[in-house]
Amino acid sequence: MNILVTGGAGFIGTHTLIELYKAGHTAVVVDNLSNSNPVSLSRVEEIIGNQVSIPFYKVDIRDREGLEKVFASHRFDACIHFAGLKAVGESVEKPWEYYENNIGGTLVLVDVMRKHGCKNIIFSSSATIYGDPVEIPITENCPKGQCTNPYGWTKSMLEQVLMDIQKADPEWNVVLLRYFNPVGAHPSGRIGENPNGIPNNLMPYITQVAVGKRKELGVFGNDYPTPDGTGVRDYIHVVDLANAHVAALKCFANALAQGHNTTFIYNVGTGNGYSVLDMVKAFVRVNGVDVPYSIKPRRAGDIATCYCDPSKAKAELGWEARYGIDDMVRDSWNWQRQNPNGFSE
Ligand code: NAD
Ligand code: UD1
Repeated sequence: MNILVTGGAGFIGTHTLIELYKAGHTAVVVDNLSNSNPVSLSRVEEIIGNQVSIPFYKVDIRDREGLEKVFASHRFDACIHFAGLKAVGESVEKPWEYYENNIGGTLVLVDVMRKHGCKNIIFSSSATIYGDPVEIPITENCPKGQCTNPYGWTKSMLEQVLMDIQKADPEWNVVLLRYFNPVGAHPSGRIGENPNGIPNNLMPYITQVAVGKRKELGVFGNDYPTPDGTGVRDYIHVVDLANAHVAALKCFANALAQGHNTTFIYNVGTGNGYSVLDMVKAFVRVNGVDVPYSIKPRRAGDIATCYCDPSKAKAELGWEARYGIDDMVRDSWNWQRQNPNGFSE
């Protein structure tokens, strides 16, 4: 298939490009580079090898004319839609910017897609839409919950928008992938997560402490009702997550074969819950580096435990996570160690 990958220069997009090409697909990238560096795409081409050149357009998905030009030059079988702003704290400060970029951008994208007869989309959703989940492990039948920030609401609302569009026009196939906590990096160490400023998320904070950029990790609370009191999450290696997108492309072929299009929803996690201290201890053990930490108050909006039941994706897509916690901490460190300043060479 030929796939339009929006946000393809970012963390998950770059890893997905590699797995798409490995599986025999081709891609075209649209990204406004608001949170990424084009060097990441050169590195993707280097990893894929065979002198592959991936067409790249520095276009904002809110720019209808820009998107029209891309669609005028390529025919797409599907779109994998990663483009969006994702910093939870920033979304609280700048809700308008988050709703406008994430929701406004997706509305323009989907409109241009349908005009050009491309009605297959895979959307990056998040476990955050479950709020404080009513069941653990979380299945796809778990009701959606109250999000604690505008970023989360953009994901929850966009799920609804895409489902409504699919219902109104059954030529659409919509796949909602609800990611749990992506970590790790490509095993080559050439691409990885490159957050701007102080990292919000646990793993990039750990790697920046390990590399000496930050003094110590603050562990947000040790009085949760979990085995060691710290928050439990379902961390998933980004290469596994990337492969879930490749597997999800099957939904389109299956829908075509069955003559029935629909909305498909999958949790994308490992099904294992690890605490903050489990992650720190694994990082230290596997990489042989020190990660000083101290216990801090709970972070507003955090929940105690969040991990999924990923069996639906296994049963229907034949996808399951292959990488474990040791691979995740090893590859995160391998990337950070080789690229202490991210993609700024
Ligand atoms: P990322 O910031 O690395 O990648 C997103 C890319 O989208 C960036 O390259 C950015 O420049 C681009 N972008 C943003 N707005 C754009 C616009 N208007 N037009 C064109 N390009 C635009 O983030 P990521 O971690 O790779 O996440 C990819 C997707 O997955 C996002 O939608 C994110 O919300 C979602 N997601 C991420 C996580 C996570 O923890 N990383 C968890 C759940 C869901
Ligand atoms: C966060 C976002 C969520 C988003 C998800 C994936 C919040 C409230 N939620 O979830 O919307 O979908 O990332 O990108 O930000 N921790 C520390 N110290 C740190 C950082 C984190 O102890 O410096 C702890 C947290 O309290 C949590 C765990 O580590 O228990 C994981 O945190 P994080 O990586 O931010 O992910 P989530 O909170 O699951």
